[in-house]
Amino acid sequence: MLKFAILLFLSLPCPPDPCCFALLWWQNAGGWVRSVRSQKEVLFLHINDGSSLENLQVVADPSLEKRDLTFGSAVEVQGKLVKSPHKMQNMELQAETIHVVGPCDIWSFPLKMKERHPLEYVRQFPHLRCRNNTLGSLLRIRSEATAGIHSFFQDNGYVHIHTPIITSNDCEGAGELFQIETSSEAKESAEKTHFFNVPAFLTVSGQLHLEVMAGAFTHVFTFGPTFRAENSQSRRHLAEFYMVEAELSFTESLQDIMQVMEDLFKTVTSTVLSKCPRDVELFHKYIAPAQKVILFSSSCRISYSEAVEILKQAPQTFVFKPEWGCDLQTEHEKYLVKHCGEVPVFVVNYPYDLKPFYMRDNEDGPQHTVAAVDLLVPGVGELCGGSLREERLPFLESRLRRLGLIDAYQWYLDLRKFGSVPHGGFGMGFERYLQYILGVDNIKDVIPFPRFSHSCLL
Ligand code: 4AD
Repeated sequence: MLKFAILLFLSLPCPPDPCCFALLWWQNAGGWVRSVRSQKEVLFLHINDGSSLENLQVVADPSLEKRDLTFGSAVEVQGKLVKSPHKMQNMELQAETIHVVGPCDIWSFPLKMKERHPLEYVRQFPHLRCRNNTLGSLLRIRSEATAGIHSFFQDNGYVHIHTPIITSNDCEGAGELFQIETSSEAKESAEKTHFFNVPAFLTVSGQLHLEVMAGAFTHVFTFGPTFRAENSQSRRHLAEFYMVEAELSFTESLQDIMQVMEDLFKTVTSTVLSKCPRDVELFHKYIAPAQKVILFSSSCRISYSEAVEILKQAPQTFVFKPEWGCDLQTEHEKYLVKHCGEVPVFVVNYPYDLKPFYMRDNEDGPQHTVAAVDLLVPGVGELCGGSLREERLPFLESRLRRLGLIDAYQWYLDLRKFGSVPHGGFGMGFERYLQYILGVDNIKDVIPFPRFSHSCLL
Protein backbone atom coordinates (compact mmCIF):
# COMPACT_ATOMS: atom_id res chain seq x y z
CA MET A 1 0.00 0.00 0.00
CA LEU A 2 1.24 3.45 -0.92
CA LYS A 3 1.81 5.39 2.28
CA PHE A 4 2.69 9.04 2.21
CA ALA A 5 2.87 10.92 5.46
CA ILE A 6 -0.13 13.21 5.70
CA LEU A 7 1.91 14.88 8.37
CA LEU A 8 3.61 16.82 5.62
CA PHE A 9 0.29 18.25 4.55
CA LEU A 10 -1.04 19.00 8.00
CA SER A 11 2.15 20.58 9.24
CA LEU A 12 2.21 23.18 6.46
CA PRO A 13 0.98 26.44 7.97
CA CYS A 14 -0.86 27.13 4.75
CA PRO A 15 -1.11 24.21 2.31
CA PRO A 16 0.50 25.16 -1.00
CA ASP A 17 -1.03 25.16 -4.43
CA PRO A 18 -2.50 21.73 -5.24
CA CYS A 19 -0.24 21.26 -8.25
CA CYS A 20 2.65 20.88 -5.77
CA PHE A 21 0.86 17.77 -4.63
CA ALA A 22 1.17 16.00 -7.97
CA LEU A 23 3.06 13.21 -6.22
CA LEU A 24 1.06 13.37 -3.05
CA TRP A 25 -2.45 13.05 -4.32
CA TRP A 26 -2.91 9.49 -3.08
CA GLN A 27 -2.87 9.72 0.67
CA ASN A 28 -3.14 7.59 3.73
CA ALA A 29 -4.04 9.87 6.62
CA GLY A 30 -4.12 8.92 10.29
CA GLY A 31 -5.69 11.12 12.95
CA TRP A 32 -8.43 11.62 15.51
CA VAL A 33 -11.91 12.63 14.50
CA ARG A 34 -12.80 16.17 15.54
CA SER A 35 -16.20 16.26 13.86
CA VAL A 36 -18.52 14.08 11.84
CA ARG A 37 -21.29 15.53 9.70
CA SER A 38 -23.43 13.19 7.75
CA GLN A 39 -25.57 14.51 4.92
CA LYS A 40 -27.77 12.65 2.49
CA GLU A 41 -25.20 12.50 -0.27
CA VAL A 42 -21.95 13.16 1.47
CA LEU A 43 -20.17 12.44 4.72
CA PHE A 44 -17.80 15.09 6.11
CA LEU A 45 -15.11 14.30 8.66
CA HIS A 46 -12.55 16.61 10.20
CA ILE A 47 -9.50 14.80 11.43
CA ASN A 48 -6.48 16.12 13.30
CA ASP A 49 -3.08 14.51 13.79
CA GLY A 50 -1.67 16.99 16.33
CA SER A 51 0.83 18.60 13.97
CA SER A 52 -1.19 21.82 13.76
CA LEU A 53 -4.47 23.40 14.69
CA GLU A 54 -5.77 22.76 11.17
CA ASN A 55 -8.03 19.78 10.63
CA LEU A 56 -7.99 17.85 7.40
CA GLN A 57 -11.41 17.72 5.80
CA VAL A 58 -12.33 14.27 4.59
CA VAL A 59 -15.19 13.92 2.13
CA ALA A 60 -16.70 10.47 1.71
CA ASP A 61 -19.62 8.60 0.32
CA PRO A 62 -22.22 8.05 3.13
CA SER A 63 -21.88 4.30 2.53
CA LEU A 64 -18.47 4.53 4.24
CA GLU A 65 -20.06 5.70 7.50
CA LYS A 66 -19.81 3.16 10.32
CA ARG A 67 -21.39 3.10 13.76
CA ASP A 68 -18.07 3.52 15.51
CA LEU A 69 -16.97 6.43 13.32
CA THR A 70 -17.56 9.05 16.01
CA PHE A 71 -16.00 12.14 17.50
CA GLY A 72 -12.79 11.12 19.30
CA SER A 73 -12.21 7.88 17.39
CA ALA A 74 -8.83 7.19 15.75
CA VAL A 75 -9.08 6.64 11.99
CA GLU A 76 -7.01 5.89 8.95
CA VAL A 77 -8.34 7.27 5.72
CA GLN A 78 -7.11 6.41 2.27
CA GLY A 79 -8.04 8.54 -0.71
CA LYS A 80 -7.20 11.37 -3.06
CA LEU A 81 -5.99 14.76 -1.93
CA VAL A 82 -7.69 17.36 -4.12
CA LYS A 83 -8.31 21.08 -4.18
CA SER A 84 -11.36 21.84 -2.08
CA PRO A 85 -14.32 23.65 -3.62
CA HIS A 86 -15.00 25.18 -0.18
CA LYS A 87 -13.67 28.67 0.50
CA MET A 88 -12.39 27.95 4.00
CA GLN A 89 -10.42 24.90 2.94
CA ASN A 90 -7.49 24.65 0.55
CA MET A 91 -7.36 20.91 0.15
CA GLU A 92 -9.55 18.01 1.13
CA LEU A 93 -9.21 14.25 1.11
CA GLN A 94 -11.72 12.31 -0.97
CA ALA A 95 -11.90 9.06 0.91
CA GLU A 96 -11.83 5.67 -0.74
CA THR A 97 -11.65 3.75 2.52
CA ILE A 98 -12.08 4.71 6.17
CA HIS A 99 -10.75 2.40 8.84
CA VAL A 100 -11.68 3.03 12.47
CA VAL A 101 -8.46 2.05 14.24
CA GLY A 102 -9.68 2.85 17.74
CA PRO A 103 -13.32 3.60 18.53
CA CYS A 104 -14.23 6.14 21.21
CA ASP A 105 -17.15 5.78 23.58
CA ILE A 106 -18.63 9.26 23.15
CA TRP A 107 -21.01 8.84 26.10
CA SER A 108 -18.24 8.49 28.64
CA PHE A 109 -15.62 10.57 26.76
CA PRO A 110 -15.33 13.80 28.80
CA LEU A 111 -14.66 16.01 25.76
CA LYS A 112 -17.57 16.96 23.57
CA MET A 113 -17.65 17.74 19.86
CA LYS A 114 -17.24 21.42 18.93
CA GLU A 115 -17.38 22.53 22.55
CA ARG A 116 -14.86 25.03 23.94
CA HIS A 117 -14.20 23.47 27.33
CA PRO A 118 -12.91 25.76 30.11
CA LEU A 119 -9.29 25.14 31.10
CA GLU A 120 -10.34 24.23 34.67
CA TYR A 121 -12.64 21.55 33.25
CA VAL A 122 -10.05 19.83 31.07
CA ARG A 123 -7.49 20.04 33.90
CA GLN A 124 -9.42 17.19 35.55
CA PHE A 125 -8.41 14.87 32.71
CA PRO A 126 -4.64 15.13 32.33
CA HIS A 127 -4.63 11.91 30.27
CA LEU A 128 -7.12 13.27 27.74
CA ARG A 129 -6.76 17.03 27.67
CA CYS A 130 -4.13 17.00 24.90
CA ARG A 131 -7.02 16.10 22.55
CA ASN A 132 -8.44 19.55 23.24
CA ASN A 133 -7.52 22.39 20.87
CA THR A 134 -6.21 24.72 23.59
CA LEU A 135 -3.87 22.15 25.10
CA GLY A 136 -2.87 21.02 21.62
CA SER A 137 -1.82 24.57 20.76
CA LEU A 138 -0.06 25.00 24.10
CA LEU A 139 1.98 21.84 23.62
CA ARG A 140 3.11 22.87 20.14
CA ILE A 141 4.06 26.32 21.47
CA ARG A 142 5.96 24.68 24.35
CA SER A 143 7.81 22.51 21.88
CA GLU A 144 8.78 25.46 19.63
CA ALA A 145 9.76 27.59 22.64
CA THR A 146 11.98 24.75 23.89
CA ALA A 147 13.71 24.54 20.51
CA GLY A 148 13.96 28.36 20.46
CA ILE A 149 15.68 28.42 23.86
CA HIS A 150 18.24 25.84 22.78
CA SER A 151 18.87 27.69 19.49
CA PHE A 152 19.25 31.04 21.24
CA PHE A 153 21.98 29.74 23.53
CA GLN A 154 23.72 27.53 20.96
CA ASP A 155 23.74 30.40 18.42
CA ASN A 156 25.34 32.67 21.00
CA GLY A 157 28.17 30.30 21.87
CA TYR A 158 26.79 28.74 25.07
CA VAL A 159 27.58 25.12 25.91
CA HIS A 160 24.58 23.08 27.03
CA ILE A 161 25.24 21.26 30.32
CA HIS A 162 23.09 18.42 31.65
CA THR A 163 22.97 19.40 35.31
CA PRO A 164 21.83 16.62 37.65
CA ILE A 165 18.31 16.18 38.99
CA ILE A 166 19.58 14.33 42.07
CA THR A 167 21.80 16.56 44.14
CA SER A 168 23.21 16.99 47.62
CA ASN A 169 22.89 20.79 47.76
CA ASP A 170 20.15 23.27 48.55
CA CYS A 171 21.26 26.00 46.18
CA GLU A 172 18.66 28.55 47.24
CA GLY A 173 19.05 27.75 50.95
CA ALA A 174 15.31 28.07 51.44
CA GLY A 175 14.82 24.49 52.64
CA GLU A 176 12.20 23.82 49.95
CA LEU A 177 13.70 20.44 49.14
CA PHE A 178 12.19 17.09 48.25
CA GLN A 179 14.35 14.46 49.88
CA ILE A 180 14.93 11.19 48.04
CA GLU A 181 13.56 8.17 49.84
CA THR A 182 14.10 4.60 48.59
CA SER A 183 11.12 2.22 48.37
CA SER A 184 10.85 -0.48 51.04
CA GLU A 185 12.02 -3.22 48.60
CA ALA A 186 15.05 -1.17 47.65
CA LYS A 187 15.72 -0.47 51.32
CA GLU A 188 15.78 -4.21 52.02
CA SER A 189 18.23 -5.01 49.27
CA ALA A 190 20.45 -2.03 49.99
CA GLU A 191 19.75 -2.18 53.75
CA LYS A 192 19.81 1.54 53.61
CA THR A 193 17.55 4.55 53.58
CA HIS A 194 17.48 7.68 51.49
CA PHE A 195 19.91 7.62 48.58
CA PHE A 196 22.02 4.61 49.58
CA ASN A 197 22.44 6.19 52.99
CA VAL A 198 23.56 9.61 51.84
CA PRO A 199 21.26 12.61 51.90
CA ALA A 200 20.04 13.44 48.42
CA PHE A 201 17.39 15.78 47.07
CA LEU A 202 15.64 16.75 43.87
CA THR A 203 17.33 19.83 42.49
CA VAL A 204 15.92 23.31 43.20
CA SER A 205 18.31 24.86 40.67
CA GLY A 206 21.17 23.76 38.43
CA GLN A 207 23.06 26.96 39.19
CA LEU A 208 25.85 25.60 41.38
CA HIS A 209 26.62 22.89 38.83
CA LEU A 210 26.63 25.53 36.10
CA GLU A 211 29.06 27.55 38.20
CA VAL A 212 31.38 24.53 38.24
CA MET A 213 31.27 24.55 34.44
CA ALA A 214 31.69 28.33 34.27
CA GLY A 215 35.18 27.65 35.62
CA ALA A 216 36.08 26.08 32.28
CA PHE A 217 33.57 27.41 29.76
CA THR A 218 32.80 31.12 29.53
CA HIS A 219 29.14 30.60 28.61
CA VAL A 220 26.97 27.69 29.76
CA PHE A 221 23.27 26.95 30.08
CA THR A 222 20.91 24.27 31.28
CA PHE A 223 17.20 23.71 30.81
CA GLY A 224 15.41 21.05 32.77
CA PRO A 225 12.97 20.04 35.48
CA THR A 226 13.33 21.77 38.82
CA PHE A 227 11.59 20.94 42.07
CA ARG A 228 10.38 23.06 44.98
CA ALA A 229 8.60 21.71 48.05
CA GLU A 230 6.47 24.82 48.27
CA ASN A 231 3.15 24.10 49.90
CA SER A 232 1.36 26.34 47.45
CA GLN A 233 -1.60 25.97 45.17
CA SER A 234 -1.17 29.48 43.82
CA ARG A 235 -1.69 30.26 40.15
CA ARG A 236 2.07 30.74 39.64
CA HIS A 237 3.71 27.99 41.71
CA LEU A 238 4.38 24.37 40.83
CA ALA A 239 6.24 21.68 42.73
CA GLU A 240 7.87 20.59 39.46
CA PHE A 241 8.60 23.21 36.82
CA TYR A 242 11.12 23.77 34.04
CA MET A 243 13.86 26.32 34.48
CA VAL A 244 16.22 27.80 31.88
CA GLU A 245 19.49 28.81 33.52
CA ALA A 246 22.54 30.57 32.11
CA GLU A 247 25.93 31.34 33.62
CA LEU A 248 28.45 33.81 32.16
CA SER A 249 32.10 34.07 33.16
CA PHE A 250 34.21 37.22 32.98
CA THR A 251 31.35 39.54 33.76
CA GLU A 252 31.26 42.14 36.50
CA SER A 253 28.03 43.80 35.55
CA LEU A 254 24.40 43.02 36.33
CA GLN A 255 23.61 44.84 33.11
CA ASP A 256 25.19 41.95 31.13
CA ILE A 257 22.90 39.48 32.90
CA MET A 258 19.82 41.64 32.29
CA GLN A 259 20.75 41.96 28.62
CA VAL A 260 20.84 38.18 28.20
CA MET A 261 17.45 37.86 29.94
CA GLU A 262 16.01 40.43 27.54
CA ASP A 263 17.62 38.96 24.41
CA LEU A 264 16.49 35.45 25.36
CA PHE A 265 12.94 36.65 25.88
CA LYS A 266 12.83 38.59 22.60
CA THR A 267 14.40 35.86 20.46
CA VAL A 268 12.33 32.98 21.82
CA THR A 269 9.11 34.98 21.61
CA SER A 270 9.78 35.93 17.97
CA THR A 271 10.47 32.27 17.20
CA VAL A 272 7.20 31.20 18.79
CA LEU A 273 5.24 33.93 16.99
CA SER A 274 6.71 33.02 13.62
CA LYS A 275 6.52 29.22 14.04
CA CYS A 276 3.03 28.91 15.50
CA PRO A 277 1.04 32.07 14.82
CA ARG A 278 -2.33 30.27 14.73
CA ASP A 279 -1.68 28.53 18.04
CA VAL A 280 -0.73 31.83 19.71
CA GLU A 281 -3.75 33.51 18.13
CA LEU A 282 -6.05 30.92 19.70
CA PHE A 283 -4.87 32.01 23.17
CA HIS A 284 -5.19 35.68 22.40
CA LYS A 285 -8.65 35.20 20.92
CA TYR A 286 -10.28 32.87 23.40
CA ILE A 287 -8.20 32.67 26.59
CA ALA A 288 -6.84 36.16 27.12
CA PRO A 289 -8.46 38.54 24.65
CA ALA A 290 -6.77 41.56 26.22
CA GLN A 291 -3.31 40.02 25.97
CA LYS A 292 -0.75 41.42 23.60
CA VAL A 293 2.73 39.98 23.36
CA ILE A 294 5.03 42.71 24.55
CA LEU A 295 8.37 42.20 22.89
CA PHE A 296 10.24 44.20 25.50
CA SER A 297 9.77 47.35 23.44
CA SER A 298 10.33 49.12 26.72
CA SER A 299 11.30 48.11 30.24
CA CYS A 300 12.06 49.79 33.51
CA ARG A 301 14.93 49.39 36.00
CA ILE A 302 14.67 50.30 39.68
CA SER A 303 16.62 49.37 42.77
CA TYR A 304 15.04 47.38 45.60
CA SER A 305 15.33 50.48 47.84
CA GLU A 306 13.48 52.59 45.26
CA ALA A 307 10.86 49.85 44.96
CA VAL A 308 10.22 49.95 48.71
CA GLU A 309 9.87 53.76 48.61
CA ILE A 310 7.39 53.50 45.68
CA LEU A 311 5.38 50.94 47.66
CA LYS A 312 5.41 53.03 50.82
CA GLN A 313 4.03 56.00 48.90
CA ALA A 314 1.37 53.94 47.10
CA PRO A 315 -2.17 55.25 47.48
CA GLN A 316 -3.32 51.81 48.59
CA THR A 317 -2.77 49.53 51.55
CA PHE A 318 -1.08 46.17 51.18
CA VAL A 319 -1.72 43.00 53.19
CA PHE A 320 2.06 42.88 53.76
CA LYS A 321 3.32 46.31 54.80
CA PRO A 322 6.33 47.22 52.64
CA GLU A 323 9.50 47.65 54.74
CA TRP A 324 13.16 47.73 53.71
CA GLY A 325 14.51 44.22 54.36
CA CYS A 326 11.26 42.36 53.61
CA ASP A 327 10.69 40.19 50.58
CA LEU A 328 8.55 41.64 47.80
CA GLN A 329 5.18 39.89 47.81
CA THR A 330 2.98 39.22 44.77
CA GLU A 331 0.83 42.27 45.60
CA HIS A 332 3.98 44.43 45.70
CA GLU A 333 5.26 43.07 42.39
CA LYS A 334 1.88 43.77 40.80
CA TYR A 335 1.88 47.34 42.04
CA LEU A 336 5.44 48.00 40.86
CA VAL A 337 4.63 46.74 37.35
CA LYS A 338 1.53 48.96 37.28
CA HIS A 339 3.50 51.93 38.60
CA CYS A 340 6.06 51.49 35.80
CA GLY A 341 3.35 51.41 33.10
CA GLU A 342 2.68 47.66 32.74
CA VAL A 343 6.11 46.95 31.23
CA PRO A 344 8.76 44.44 32.38
CA VAL A 345 10.55 45.77 35.47
CA PHE A 346 14.09 44.86 36.56
CA VAL A 347 14.53 45.24 40.32
CA VAL A 348 18.20 45.27 41.35
CA ASN A 349 20.31 45.19 44.53
CA TYR A 350 18.34 43.32 47.17
CA PRO A 351 19.10 43.23 50.93
CA TYR A 352 22.07 41.03 51.77
CA ASP A 353 20.13 39.14 54.44
CA LEU A 354 17.26 38.27 52.11
CA LYS A 355 19.27 36.48 49.47
CA PRO A 356 21.21 33.18 49.20
CA PHE A 357 24.86 32.81 50.18
CA TYR A 358 26.25 32.84 46.65
CA MET A 359 25.28 36.42 45.73
CA ARG A 360 27.98 39.09 45.42
CA ASP A 361 28.28 41.53 48.30
CA ASN A 362 27.84 45.15 47.13
CA GLU A 363 29.76 46.29 50.24
CA ASP A 364 27.41 49.22 50.63
CA GLY A 365 25.83 50.22 53.88
CA PRO A 366 24.05 50.76 56.17
CA GLN A 367 21.43 49.22 53.90
CA HIS A 368 23.60 46.30 52.95
CA THR A 369 22.79 44.79 49.53
CA VAL A 370 23.89 42.12 47.07
CA ALA A 371 24.13 42.33 43.27
CA ALA A 372 20.85 40.53 42.57
CA VAL A 373 18.22 41.12 39.91
CA ASP A 374 14.64 39.96 39.55
CA LEU A 375 12.63 40.55 36.39
CA LEU A 376 8.94 41.24 37.04
CA VAL A 377 6.40 41.08 34.22
CA PRO A 378 2.75 42.13 33.97
CA GLY A 379 0.19 39.56 35.08
CA VAL A 380 2.76 37.04 36.32
CA GLY A 381 5.20 38.79 38.65
CA GLU A 382 8.68 37.32 38.95
CA LEU A 383 9.78 35.75 35.67
CA CYS A 384 13.57 35.63 36.16
CA GLY A 385 15.91 35.71 39.13
CA GLY A 386 19.66 36.23 38.82
CA SER A 387 22.77 37.75 40.34
CA LEU A 388 26.47 38.27 40.18
CA ARG A 389 28.10 35.47 42.19
CA GLU A 390 30.55 36.06 45.03
CA GLU A 391 33.85 35.13 43.37
CA ARG A 392 36.09 36.42 46.21
CA LEU A 393 37.25 33.64 48.52
CA PRO A 394 37.40 35.63 51.82
CA PHE A 395 33.88 37.05 51.37
CA LEU A 396 32.39 33.68 50.49
CA GLU A 397 34.26 31.87 53.25
CA SER A 398 33.08 34.23 55.95
CA ARG A 399 29.47 34.11 54.73
CA LEU A 400 29.41 30.30 54.59
CA ARG A 401 31.02 30.13 58.04
CA ARG A 402 28.36 32.42 59.50
CA LEU A 403 25.62 30.26 57.95
CA GLY A 404 27.23 27.05 59.27
CA LEU A 405 27.67 25.75 55.70
CA ILE A 406 31.47 25.85 55.45
CA ASP A 407 31.98 22.07 55.51
CA ALA A 408 29.27 21.27 52.98
CA TYR A 409 30.60 23.80 50.48
CA GLN A 410 34.34 23.07 50.44
CA TRP A 411 34.07 22.12 46.77
CA TYR A 412 32.35 25.45 46.04
CA LEU A 413 35.14 27.31 47.84
CA ASP A 414 37.65 25.38 45.72
CA LEU A 415 36.16 27.06 42.64
CA ARG A 416 37.29 30.37 44.16
CA LYS A 417 40.78 29.02 44.87
CA PHE A 418 41.58 27.68 41.43
CA GLY A 419 41.18 30.30 38.70
CA SER A 420 38.16 32.17 40.02
CA VAL A 421 36.63 34.80 37.73
CA PRO A 422 33.84 37.32 38.19
CA HIS A 423 30.69 35.63 36.91
CA GLY A 424 26.93 35.69 37.13
CA GLY A 425 23.77 34.24 35.74
CA PHE A 426 20.05 33.82 36.04
CA GLY A 427 17.14 31.42 35.88
CA MET A 428 13.86 31.89 34.03
CA GLY A 429 10.75 29.87 34.92
CA PHE A 430 9.62 28.34 31.63
CA GLU A 431 5.98 27.97 32.66
CA ARG A 432 5.83 31.57 33.87
CA TYR A 433 7.27 32.63 30.52
CA LEU A 434 4.48 30.75 28.71
CA GLN A 435 1.88 32.19 31.09
CA TYR A 436 3.08 35.67 30.28
CA ILE A 437 3.25 35.46 26.49
CA LEU A 438 -0.06 33.59 26.21
CA GLY A 439 -1.95 35.42 28.94
CA VAL A 440 -2.80 32.22 30.81
CA ASP A 441 -3.99 32.88 34.33
CA ASN A 442 -3.09 29.56 35.96
CA ILE A 443 0.35 27.96 35.65
CA LYS A 444 -1.27 24.49 35.76
CA ASP A 445 -2.58 25.12 32.24
CA VAL A 446 0.82 25.61 30.58
CA ILE A 447 2.46 22.32 31.60
CA PRO A 448 1.35 18.89 30.35
CA PHE A 449 1.30 17.19 33.75
CA PRO A 450 1.10 19.73 36.60
CA ARG A 451 2.49 18.75 40.01
CA PHE A 452 1.60 20.95 42.95
CA SER A 453 0.88 20.53 46.62
CA HIS A 454 -1.49 17.61 47.25
CA SER A 455 -1.76 16.82 43.54
CA CYS A 456 0.15 14.32 41.44
CA LEU A 457 -2.37 12.90 38.98
CA LEU A 458 -1.06 10.16 36.70
O1 4AD B 1 14.49 33.09 41.58
P1 4AD B 1 14.83 31.63 41.59
O2 4AD B 1 14.58 30.88 42.82
O3 4AD B 1 16.33 31.57 41.14
C1 4AD B 1 17.12 30.46 41.19
O4 4AD B 1 16.77 29.34 41.42
C2 4AD B 1 18.54 30.76 40.75
N1 4AD B 1 19.42 29.77 41.35
C3 4AD B 1 18.59 30.74 39.25
C4 4AD B 1 19.97 31.08 38.72
O5 4AD B 1 20.47 32.16 38.99
N2 4AD B 1 20.56 30.18 37.95
O6 4AD B 1 14.04 30.93 40.40
C5 4AD B 1 14.17 31.36 39.07
C6 4AD B 1 12.80 31.42 38.40
C7 4AD B 1 11.82 32.38 39.06
O7 4AD B 1 12.05 33.71 38.67
C8 4AD B 1 10.50 31.84 38.57
O8 4AD B 1 10.21 32.28 37.26
C9 4AD B 1 10.74 30.34 38.51
O9 4AD B 1 12.15 30.15 38.49
N3 4AD B 1 10.19 29.67 39.69
C10 4AD B 1 9.05 28.93 39.67
N4 4AD B 1 8.20 28.64 38.69
C11 4AD B 1 7.13 27.86 39.00
N5 4AD B 1 6.90 27.34 40.23
C12 4AD B 1 7.73 27.61 41.25
N6 4AD B 1 7.51 27.07 42.45
C13 4AD B 1 8.87 28.44 41.00
N7 4AD B 1 9.89 28.88 41.76
C14 4AD B 1 10.68 29.63 40.94
